[in-house]
Amino acid sequence: MLNKLRDAEIKADFVQMDVADETSIKNAAVEFGTLDLKLNVLINNAAILEVSGNITKMPTEELWNALNANSIGAFIVIREFLPFMAKGGRIVNVSSGTGALSDMSTYAPAYSISKTTLNAITKQFAVALKDKKIAVNSVCPGWVRTEMGGMNATRSVKKGAETIVWLATESPQNKTGLFWRDKKVIDW
Ligand SMILES: NC(=O)c1ccc[n+]([C@@H]2O[C@H](COP(=O)([O-])OP(=O)(O)OC[C@H]3O[C@@H](n4cnc5c(N)ncnc54)[C@H](OP(=O)(O)O)[C@@H]3O)[C@@H](O)[C@H]2O)c1
Repeated sequence: MLNKLRDAEIKADFVQMDVADETSIKNAAVEFGTLDLKLNVLINNAAILEVSGNITKMPTEELWNALNANSIGAFIVIREFLPFMAKGGRIVNVSSGTGALSDMSTYAPAYSISKTTLNAITKQFAVALKDKKIAVNSVCPGWVRTEMGGMNATRSVKKGAETIVWLATESPQNKTGLFWRDKKVIDW
């Protein structure tokens, strides 16, 4: 990936982190600090999906794992990288329609709950960072043909990334604390 970007003459570098491990995130933030860069965009995209399918029998560990990687990880990443964020920056939390309380089913309960939690984290930071003009939004990419979505998913990766990229670059800066799909606001 890095070579592809460099071949296209895009200046790129990477800092590795495990978002389920607070120390790893903190180390990554320290490493980023040594680069002396401002952060304009932060996208929390990493997530895990375990499907036990039945909350009445779901092992506790499954919920902890999902919360750790999908929600608490995103919270720590935002908190630790915030000092590098420029005014007018953008934070995009890649959520899922399965986390919408207004449309919740029994599908993948730990994952769904973790995405609801991520949405609450979005809302909290959006309010806290409004004065700094940092936009914080959640987005559902739809059902996408990735390792998580599987090959039967209805959307290409390009389509799935469309609204994420839009929120990261050109959506109105004053639109913050919202949940999006296909560049439209959806219910929490
Ligand atoms: N695909 C869909 O249909 C769909 C639908 C709704 C929402 N979403 C959301 O879209 C986002 C991207 O999903 P995807 O479909 O691309 O999933 P994916 O194919 O399973 O990829 C997930 C990515 O997250 C990384 N990751 C997982 N745990 C991590 C950790 N502890 N630390 C650092 N990286 C970690 C994985 O890295 P490794 O490969 O190194 O493990 C992988 O690159 C996720 O937030 C997902 O919940 C996807």
